[in-house]
Amino acid sequence: MAFQGQHILSIDQLDRDAVEHIIQIADNMTPYATREKCCNVLDGAILANLFFEPSTRTRISFGTAFNLLGGHVRETVGMTTSSLSKGESLYDTARVTANYADVIAMRHPEVGSVADFARGSNVPVINGGDGANEHPTQALLDLYTIHNELEALGKKKDTIKIAMIGDLKNGRTVHSLTRLLCLFPNIQFTFISPQALAMPDKILDTCHDAGLNYSISEDFHYGLKNQDVIYLTRVQEERFTTQEEANLYRGKYCLNQSLYQQHCDKNTIIMHPLPRDSRPEANELSDDMNDNPNLAIFRQTHYGVKVRMALFALVLGVEDKLSHYEKPMNWYSPRHS
Ligand code: CP
Repeated sequence: MAFQGQHILSIDQLDRDAVEHIIQIADNMTPYATREKCCNVLDGAILANLFFEPSTRTRISFGTAFNLLGGHVRETVGMTTSSLSKGESLYDTARVTANYADVIAMRHPEVGSVADFARGSNVPVINGGDGANEHPTQALLDLYTIHNELEALGKKKDTIKIAMIGDLKNGRTVHSLTRLLCLFPNIQFTFISPQALAMPDKILDTCHDAGLNYSISEDFHYGLKNQDVIYLTRVQEERFTTQEEANLYRGKYCLNQSLYQQHCDKNTIIMHPLPRDSRPEANELSDDMNDNPNLAIFRQTHYGVKVRMALFALVLGVEDKLSHYEKPMNWYSPRHS
């Protein structure tokens, strides 16, 4: 796949070679992401970071990734503070914003909205999450995390048993990650959710078409056993019609250190796209696991910066120029990892 000038809207655009290339470029970003060196290859370039739905990690890491390559960031945050609230269309917003920026990252609550927006943009648009549909950059950073964690444990990267647990109906990260993992052989999925929040059929069809095995259950303890990776998700209460309906499912699955020790294999990797819902009535991933060395959730967020740096470098065509624009660091910084 030729990345330069392309929108990144869905995992469906990527084949295995494209994914391997993104991972390789993300590896090349390590000295800049860990603040060993600076790189200003995107000096003068502008990212428009448009977030019409709440975010901490995705918005800040897109901005950080762009800044770490020497670029500038302009942002709009929230629907009510943008002219979408005055009835402006996504198309018009895109036509205008594309004039102000060299690349656009966008999150919006409606399924398909980022692709609609991209039709009006002649600069690359990267999907930062469109409703319950997709979150492709999260899936790429999740895959990058899985590979790095398995490698650190001395395990094979291409034979993975993974349980996805929680709100699989509304969780866009599990939709994109499942699609992405379907590009690889020897993945064994276990999908654990209440029946009403089950993985959508179209995602299961992707597994089936790829010839991959999956099992489906509501049994949390069954899902914890015999896995390389457990990927927990929050009940996406913002996607429910009422809070009462969301409350039916919050707190149904809660992983803590005691359950981990009872049910999980030694060194099972624990992942979560974050945010985790730490309120007592939800608490799907307890704080008492914070010192468990197999808890990868904060390493995921670090890898997200490298993967987003790689995507910016690729769509702007500078992935081979990084070392020419390196500079030493002039200030104190603890190593980021
Ligand atoms: N993982 C993720 O999308 O987090 P934010 O909602 O904080 O961006």
